[in-house]
Amino acid sequence: MKDGLSLEQAVIKIAPRLDGSYAFLATSVDDPGKIIGTRRNNPLVIGIDDADYYASSDALAFATYTNQVISLEDNEVAALEAGSVEFLDAEGNKLAKQARTLDQSWAKSDKEGYQYFMLKEIMEQAQVLGRTLHQDAKAFTDIALDILRARQVIITACGSSRYAALVGRYLFSRVGKRFCDVVMASEFGYFADSVDKNTVVIAVSQSGETADVVEGVKAARDAGAQVISIINRPNSILADLSHQVIYLNCGPEIAVAATKSFLSQLAIFYLLSFSMVNGFDEAAAKLTELSTTITGVLDWNKSEMIRLSQELKGKHDFYYIARGINFAIASEGALKLKEISYIHAEGMPAGELKHGTLALIEPGTPVVVICPADYTFAETINNAMEAKARGAYMIAVSDRASDIYDSWIRIPEVDELLYPLVAVVPLHLLAYYAAISRGCDPDKPRNLAKSVTVK
Ligand code: M6R
Repeated sequence: MKDGLSLEQAVIKIAPRLDGSYAFLATSVDDPGKIIGTRRNNPLVIGIDDADYYASSDALAFATYTNQVISLEDNEVAALEAGSVEFLDAEGNKLAKQARTLDQSWAKSDKEGYQYFMLKEIMEQAQVLGRTLHQDAKAFTDIALDILRARQVIITACGSSRYAALVGRYLFSRVGKRFCDVVMASEFGYFADSVDKNTVVIAVSQSGETADVVEGVKAARDAGAQVISIINRPNSILADLSHQVIYLNCGPEIAVAATKSFLSQLAIFYLLSFSMVNGFDEAAAKLTELSTTITGVLDWNKSEMIRLSQELKGKHDFYYIARGINFAIASEGALKLKEISYIHAEGMPAGELKHGTLALIEPGTPVVVICPADYTFAETINNAMEAKARGAYMIAVSDRASDIYDSWIRIPEVDELLYPLVAVVPLHLLAYYAAISRGCDPDKPRNLAKSVTVK
């Protein structure tokens, strides 16, 4: 600007010299009354309401004021002034950009009487499942065929989305007889050498903005892979990068902890895996029936979750164990507990316990075992007994009784592949009440963000 450039010209000149990914807004006392924004690999959206303008990384931030949104592409510039907004390309040429209308469900996000968004989102899971199941059966069958035909299939995701993917991996194998790998998105780049045009990469991300996932997908595309994304939030960076997108349709998830989006991701993996054997309708019917069951699980367990969280609020370590298709639910339960209540928690395959972690079990150590009456029950309960023998306080998520439980989180008997959906719901509730009992804000855990747009 010392050379006489306007603020927007200065931003256009400086931005290409910046390393990494960013979205920023600039103001200057030397060119007052303007806000100039630009982005690279991070989201930046402009909201427009008559003569009022908003800029944010996420349209949810201004959704109560306007539902008219313009997304910037990489290196584009927005120049906001009182009563006007202008868009420029990286050379400073004017751009005509069209606003899109934010879906009504995304414009409305209040707690509807709940104390926290997280509880609201847990409680609305049964309804959400119904919305997720509204999918195009033909599109699912086509995607399932692509997955079956590929030389290799890699699923990439982070956090809870990765745990949903791990359940998906078991389903692909058991239902579709299709082995696939799940690679943590932050590690994906280290496997990029083996990705080629005969690879299908499935990216799972509630936000569609997680930087590690976005970067992995770009690398996969560059290598010629077919990219299929499973996303909740509309108009995300990931959607733009994907060849096919499956939407969760579970509405805005405001709490940092993923709950309803996790359940929806599981439902999508059921639909996909059953589509591999021409069973989309069968899976959709089974999942529809499950909606009322999920409400029942919440009702049955609420008071026990409150009691348990009070009793165990002083504990420092929790271990979550399960086998097979339920293993990822152990990891998800542990992630949710540590994320919002700040209690150390680990999830692991029950068979791994004796390879190290058993040394940490002391009298009173809480161990959560997910042991529904399915093909994993007998071996999982044996592992639980090993922990019980060392004095563990045994919390069981099961539909089958056992003398070794100190606390029994009851779930109904369902088809054996459906247990992850009913087992995870009370574990989300347990984490929620644990956070409340320790005076933590479950919606805004310290140090964490809803969309992790940095690497
Ligand atoms: O938006 P994404 O699904 O890509 O987010 C991935 C993780 O950051 C996310 O699942 C995180 O682990 C949650 N806060 C867990 O509750």
